[in-house]
Amino acid sequence: MTTMELKEKILRLKKEKEAIILAHYYVDKEIQEVADYIGDSFYLSKIAKECKENTIVFCGVNFMAESAKILSPEKKILIPVNNAFCPMAQMVSEDDVLYMKEKYPDAKVVCYVNSTAEVKAVSDVCCTSSNAINIVNNLDSNRIIFVPDRNLGSYVSEQVKDKEVILWDGFCCVHDDVDKDILDKLIVSNSKNKEDIAILVHPECKKVIRDKATFIGSTAQIIEFASKSHYDKYIIVTEIGIKHKLTEKCPDKEFIFMPFMHCFTMKKITLENLYECLDKDNYQVELDEEVIKNAYRSLEDMHKFGEKVK
Ligand code: 13P
Ligand code: SF4
Repeated sequence: MTTMELKEKILRLKKEKEAIILAHYYVDKEIQEVADYIGDSFYLSKIAKECKENTIVFCGVNFMAESAKILSPEKKILIPVNNAFCPMAQMVSEDDVLYMKEKYPDAKVVCYVNSTAEVKAVSDVCCTSSNAINIVNNLDSNRIIFVPDRNLGSYVSEQVKDKEVILWDGFCCVHDDVDKDILDKLIVSNSKNKEDIAILVHPECKKVIRDKATFIGSTAQIIEFASKSHYDKYIIVTEIGIKHKLTEKCPDKEFIFMPFMHCFTMKKITLENLYECLDKDNYQVELDEEVIKNAYRSLEDMHKFGEKVK
């Protein structure tokens, strides 16, 4: 079967089953091409919460599909592979959070959505990379335990100077690994002077990399910055899947992508397993009712407080 035929079959089946397909910017181009909505973690969780369809196929990593289930427990949430685990989400457990809460009883726990449903259930509020600063600013506590991403957590702590942020030692293996020397060489070889070029960085990167940035933001915010600003060239320091939407939205701009930034978990989603998913209801996200109830509160509060600036 050709790619075109497979895509047509997916679109037909999706219509028959009255399903919608959500895709993160990091999944492969051909998956994005059959999706109804493409976005960053925050936007996709909003669509999952608000859409009228009863079947959602989540093309992304496991925690994203779990968040959709938490926000819409009555809906059928499907994910094309059953082992699309984001390594960072496995770096903190429910017991770790309970231990930290006991150690710092006056602190509130902010949990990055790149975490398990069980961790969300014992946290005070969730955040994504697009709203983490607002969430921490709006929280009625001056002491914050931030899990699991040490890089996003330290970025937040640099921006919210009047609060103490206690970091957990988790990280994204794709963003944490960015090599400063390679980035420096890319900057030198691509710019006549510093004003020509913008360096757009995801906050999951280390401080030495963030310090080079013209702009720091979520995947959606990076795309928005690139489409609204007027630099000649952009160095993009996030996962390569973002290339598709960036080049589609800004055909006349030049983008240079940081090498070696591949999220192998996101790339597990293929047209073949997406088709199987729609055909056989592979794999349904199931979560414990109590976990859903408690994690819902953390995600719901993120939606309530994330956009409100103190
Ligand atoms: P965004 O919320 O920016 O899309 O990030 C999700 C993610 O997993 C980044 O590694
Ligand atoms: Fe997880 Fe990193 Fe992949 Fe994002 S890019 S899903 S944080 S491993």
